[in-house]
Formats: sequence, C-alpha cells, structure tokens
Amino acid sequence: MKITPRVFSGMQPTGSLHLGNYLGAMVNWIKMQDTHECIYCVVDLHAITVWQEPSELRTAIRQVTASYIAAGLDPQKSVLFNQSQVSAHAELGWIFNCVARLGWLNRMTQFKEKAGKDREQASVGLYAYPNLMAADILAYRATHVPVGEDQKQHLELARDIAQKFNNDFKTEIVAAGFADGIFFPQPEPVITGPTRVMSLRDGTKKMSKSDPSDLSRINLMDDADTVARKIQKAKTDPDGIPSEVKGLEGRPEAENLVGIYAALTDQPVEAVLRDFGGQQFSAFKKALADVATDKLGRIGGEASRLMQDPAEIDRILADGAARARAIAKPVMDNVKDIVGLIRS
Ligand code: AMP
Ligand code: TRP
Repeated sequence: MKITPRVFSGMQPTGSLHLGNYLGAMVNWIKMQDTHECIYCVVDLHAITVWQEPSELRTAIRQVTASYIAAGLDPQKSVLFNQSQVSAHAELGWIFNCVARLGWLNRMTQFKEKAGKDREQASVGLYAYPNLMAADILAYRATHVPVGEDQKQHLELARDIAQKFNNDFKTEIVAAGFADGIFFPQPEPVITGPTRVMSLRDGTKKMSKSDPSDLSRINLMDDADTVARKIQKAKTDPDGIPSEVKGLEGRPEAENLVGIYAALTDQPVEAVLRDFGGQQFSAFKKALADVATDKLGRIGGEASRLMQDPAEIDRILADGAARARAIAKPVMDNVKDIVGLIRS
C-alpha cells in the first residue's frame, strides 16, 4: 500500500460556522477538491468532549453538513460524512492513546484554553482530543490537512504520533510488506488565506463560535440584513483606509476588515488598498457588506434549503460513511496486524 497524496479535514458541529471557518479553512477545502482525493468530516466525536445537548447535536451535525455542501463541497467528488459513523476513528484513537505520551499532550495550548482554570473537571476526552484528531487523519493515511493556523500544534502532534508508531513497530511494519518501514505518512497542514479572521468587536481576538457576542462574528447562516448590520457595527479606528500595507500596522480592526475583503474577492491586500486608499470606513464598509452578503447570502440560503430535507442530508452522510469505511478498512487491518492484535 503506497502512500498517495490525500486530503483530510474536519470541523466540529458546535455552534454555527462563521466567516473564520470559511476563509480560514473551507475555501481551501473547496479548492483542493480539484487537485486531490479529499475526505471531509463532521467531527461529532470531537464535539462531545464538552457537553452537547443530544437533540441539538443531531441538528448541528446536519447543519454543518448543509453548510459544507452550500459552500461548495461536492459529496460526489469528495467523501463527506460524520465521524461517529466510521468506527476506525475511535479504534485508532485508542491505539494512539497508547502511543502518545502524557508529556506531549500536556503542552497542548487548546486544551489549556478550553479546560480553563477548572482543569480537574474537564473530560478525559478533551485532554485526549488531539490523539483522536491524529487518528482521523491517519486512518486514511492522509498527507495534507487544510486547517486554520490554530490547528498547527495539533498537526505537529499527529506527526509525532505517526513517527513514534513507525519507530516502535518498525520490524512489524517491514514484515507487513512496507519495505521502507514507513506505515504512516507525516501529515502536513495546508494554511493559506487570512490565517486568522479576527472578531468584529476586537481585532486582537480571533473570530470564534464561543464568543458570547454574536456581533463579533458573521455566521454562515446569517441573512443579508444581519451580515450588513454586523459589518456596519464592526469596530474601526478614527483613521481612514490607508493606501499601503504599512498603514495597517498597529490597526488590527482595519487590517482585519481589509483582509476579509481581500479574501472574499480573492485578491491581494495591496490591490484592495489601491482601490480604497484614502476613503472613509463608512464607504469601505458598504462595499464590504455588498461582497459579504453576496457570497454568504448564497451559502446561507442554500444551506437553509438543504436543511428542509434532513433525510436527504442523512442519506448523503451514510453514503460518505460507507466510502470512508472502505478506505479506512485496509489501513486498520494493517494496524491490527502490526500491533499484534488478532482480527477475523
Ligand atoms: P473550530 O471553529 O475551532 O472548530 O475550527 C474549525 C476550522 O476553522 C479549523 O481549521 C480552524 O483552524 C478554522 N478557524 C476557526 N476560527 C478561525 C478564525 N477566526 N480564523 C481562521 N481560521 C479559523
Ligand atoms: N481540531 C479541529 C478544530 O478544532 C477539528 C478536527 C478534528 C480536525 N479532527 C480533525 C481538523 C482532523 C483537521 C483534521 O478545528
């Protein structure tokens, strides 16, 4: 089984997807469909590392799936499914719990942020989360992982796990027919675009599902009026739009809005500044609201339409899960042989 280039990525079905998810990760997911074999997952097992209301979780899984498709993921071209339908994730996750070291997980900044002060009360799942993420990727021996910058540390951990597995089981890996002793590839993050989309209320904080203020983010499900209102209310500073990139230094809110405009119109920041340099924020915000409502309005509208037929979404997920299982099966068979487990 040769290692072939393969893309894997996922998002949690918690809260609603926002512009940061879209520009930070999904735009790349969509582009990579044309060049790679892609597997995109709604990572519901990751979501339950913090409490999820069961009835809301089901809706959120469908909602994220609808947003994926509305944004341009093609369930024919790519494999699109929810994680819990493919048992390979949890199985390999357990094996990786036994490969990763406590010291490695203790360094994970996302756990420290999410667990907060009361770490004793955090779930064991939240702590082991990065091992499951490594399993998501490596169950398909995926090589490329389009994500936002905040996932870089988790990807490093996935590479460490892959390497330790390859080292620990070198003899067995060679015996299983992998002559070079390499079973798992080293998955690489693919990060482009505005690496971090910031909050509309505070340009030093990242746009996030968990920000208590809904005005801080643009949700993919917001209607055109809401998007326009949030952009009008976005924090700015008293100066206008500069003509050069240097003029954005030390002005996080201005930099963020210009970056969003550039990403939505697929042009460099320099080009945006050439067009808008010297103008007031009020004019720029109108233009930004236009491009944002055009793009997101379409995505939100299409996702709402898809949500009216939940059975069809479930069918798409089941079909994707069957295809995902077929890819993961030979990998898991090899893993079990390599580790020394008996399988039928
Ligand atoms: P999360 O919302 O934390 O589940 O993240 C899902 C994906 O979106 C990950 O690849 C993140 O890196 C990316 N992402 C989340 N928030 C942002 C943001 N504000 N800017 C850029 N990328 C983001
Ligand atoms: N940890 C990612 C996040 O919070 C979600 C995720 C889970 C993921 N498994 C993954 C991303 C595998 C890429 C590949 O956004």
